[in-house]
Amino acid sequence: MNNKKIKILTIYGSPRKNGNTDELMKSFERGINENNYLTDSGLMIESLFIRKMNFSPCIECRHCSIDGECLIKDDMQQAYLKLIEADLIAVSSPVFFVSVSALLKSFIDRCQRFWSLKYELKKRIIKKDRVGIFISAAGADNIAIFDCSKKVIKEFFNVLYVKYEKNFLYNKIDNKGDILKKPETLKEVFEYGKNVKI
Ligand SMILES: Cc1cc2nc3c(=O)[nH]c(=O)nc-3n(C[C@H](O)[C@H](O)[C@H](O)COP(=O)(O)O)c2cc1C
Repeated sequence: MNNKKIKILTIYGSPRKNGNTDELMKSFERGINENNYLTDSGLMIESLFIRKMNFSPCIECRHCSIDGECLIKDDMQQAYLKLIEADLIAVSSPVFFVSVSALLKSFIDRCQRFWSLKYELKKRIIKKDRVGIFISAAGADNIAIFDCSKKVIKEFFNVLYVKYEKNFLYNKIDNKGDILKKPETLKEVFEYGKNVKI
């Protein structure tokens, strides 16, 4: 067994199953599975569907400022391990009220422990530098609708020592299935997955 498998973590941030961002992420995963460079090196894709997770929002107890641990014992504990081990992290979310979904925002807030480790405790538990991509869809006519979400994701990646490599942002996509009517979007994420080198 090759224990140096490249780990891809895909984080699905929409509450809507098989919605627009789900379809984009699935297309990215299909590309990854056809990426000869990654499959030759050994590859593991793990997916986190935030809507299926059982976890509390951050309760701001500030315990993580003391030792970098989160005291809340729920599904986030398993997610932390996956976030630490991943070589590439792909995050998807619809735009909700000009930002990421509340589901994804709650997930990110629970990563305050990584912020404390990096900036308060100055302790590096994540040894490797990694890359991240962000996938989003929004109904609005204006591409600037993604500005807030990009800032949130940038900071999320930053505390995890993840380089914000690329985003795939599609506006004027609203109803379920809209993204399927624009196959070029799915192709774009597929091709990225198929060709990315880590
Ligand atoms: C609660 C809610 C808030 C939304 N807020 C915005 C918004 O601020 N700007 C926008 O362009 N679209 C907004 N939308 C539309 C979604 O971003 C759009 O439908 C997207 O394609 C959904 O992606 P999904 O199918 O992956 O969930 C909102 C939709 C919902 C349900």
